[in-house]
Amino acid sequence: MGVRMAGSIGKGYAKVIIFGEHFVVYGLPGVAAGIDKFVQIEAQKVKDSDDVLFDDKVFNEKLSEKKDSENIKFKLLHAIFDKEEFLPKKGIKFIINSNFSAGSGMGYSAAFCVAITRAMNNLFSQDWKNEKINELAYLGECVAHGKPSGIDNTCATFGTTIWFEKNMQEEKNKVRPIKCGKNLYFVLADTGIKHNTKEVVEKVKKFKEENKKEFDVICSDYKSIVSKAKKEIQFGGVIEIGKLMNQNHLLLKQLGVSNEQIDQIIRIANFEGAIGAKITGAGMGGNVLILCENEKGQEKIINSLIGKGFEAIKIKVN
Ligand code: PMV
Repeated sequence: MGVRMAGSIGKGYAKVIIFGEHFVVYGLPGVAAGIDKFVQIEAQKVKDSDDVLFDDKVFNEKLSEKKDSENIKFKLLHAIFDKEEFLPKKGIKFIINSNFSAGSGMGYSAAFCVAITRAMNNLFSQDWKNEKINELAYLGECVAHGKPSGIDNTCATFGTTIWFEKNMQEEKNKVRPIKCGKNLYFVLADTGIKHNTKEVVEKVKKFKEENKKEFDVICSDYKSIVSKAKKEIQFGGVIEIGKLMNQNHLLLKQLGVSNEQIDQIIRIANFEGAIGAKITGAGMGGNVLILCENEKGQEKIINSLIGKGFEAIKIKVN
């Protein structure tokens, strides 16, 4: 057993997509926000050890690469760092904590990838800037999700509200911070159905291939929604943002990624005075994002959703 030494901590943030899931995959812009929930990873050097250890407080498991090399965490570790030739990849222990749950549609894997990248950056004094952290975390996201747009790891890196456009030529994505004119009070409601992002992205691809003309019309409607949304977010036009969210949701429904539970949550939210509501993330389960007038509105909607058996939490975006 080696001797533990002082460690280095890294954080990656959870996210909500406010506009643009699925559309961002095809290079259209999206708006997303990093929120005040995170994965935190502490990396420690372990002297005289050639193993890698994870002490995962979230999943309550202790792993060693020598015994558990098939575990996804080791795959992520190698996807992220193997090209960094001079970076040690042995004799390290990672301690994982988080204040949100995995599989909750808030981008746990992206937050994990960013947190471990920052922890390694600090432990081995690499002086990586956010851009490099984001690039490395994306390599991990590709293991977790196939070929993601990159919006999740970008939010997990910056932790703020951003305008995001994937570069379809595999060059740098466009990422710009957005300052909200007013605080946005959201409820994030969980359908209780776990989705597989990769599968839902495939479903949309199939829709696109089989309905080319319809898909083009949907994309052009979406473009106009997101460009109006950007202005309204900056201006603080909460009512307009809500209307645009509803319109964005109808387009997602046309793509076929809504389901009965999502529709039910939206009906309940609208009945309780929601300003707007839509799928957030891949859909077919996962979460619904509901815009409320203020904190009172959030509470009213949360109580009603909980009464109907759904889990829901408050989120403030600014
Ligand atoms: O993994 P989720 O549920 O947060 O969805 C990610 C958003 C998608 O646009 C559906 C996929 C992507 O890569 O951007």
